[in-house]
Amino acid sequence: MRHWLRHPIGMGALLPSSPGVARVLARQMQLDRDGPILELGAGTGTITGGLIAGACPAERLVLVESEPQLAAHLREHYPATRAIHGDAKQIDTLLAGVGVGALATVISTLPIKWFPLEDQRAVVMPCLRRLGPGGHFVQITNAPTPPIDTRRLRINAARVDAVWLHFLPVQVWRFWLD
Ligand SMILES: C[S@@+](CC[C@H](N)C(=O)[O-])C[C@H]1O[C@@H](n2cnc3c(N)ncnc32)[C@H](O)[C@@H]1O
Repeated sequence: MRHWLRHPIGMGALLPSSPGVARVLARQMQLDRDGPILELGAGTGTITGGLIAGACPAERLVLVESEPQLAAHLREHYPATRAIHGDAKQIDTLLAGVGVGALATVISTLPIKWFPLEDQRAVVMPCLRRLGPGGHFVQITNAPTPPIDTRRLRINAARVDAVWLHFLPVQVWRFWLD
């Protein structure tokens, strides 16, 4: 609540995601691919816990969170993960700092639909390049339309799942390069 009052746009939703959302997102992990699963906007770790429960070894998770206190909370509660305090718009620098190259899947609960186009580009394009062919950038949104400007970024999108959160529908979108 304290973080939301300070950064309502940056946080997006006031209430954290539920274990139900985490379960739906866990189904999107491509664990048969090489590389870490990257979680963007890990917050208090609700999704992180669901990804681990969904069979992702904690050691395989890289978490990025821009709020320093939340990043510290993640490090304390999920010590086996690599929890990075930083801005997802600097994703290449953040991943290079922990020696991560290719990614298996990206799971994002960032409030990305509120990001200007250039910020969306700065987050999504380096991730898609690191995912390579067949890798998915997965994003939730409470909007009925894609939360990322696919036309101007020239990327592919499909709505792949939906779940209810606090009486509101949450859509799960997948983005990928040709
Ligand atoms: C809607 S909350 C989701 C939190 C948690 N994953 C959940 O589902 O409950 C969005 C999170 O993204 C973080 N965030 C917002 N902008 C960010 C950025 N540019 N880089 C990294 N994290 C960011 C916020 O601090 C917040 O924790």
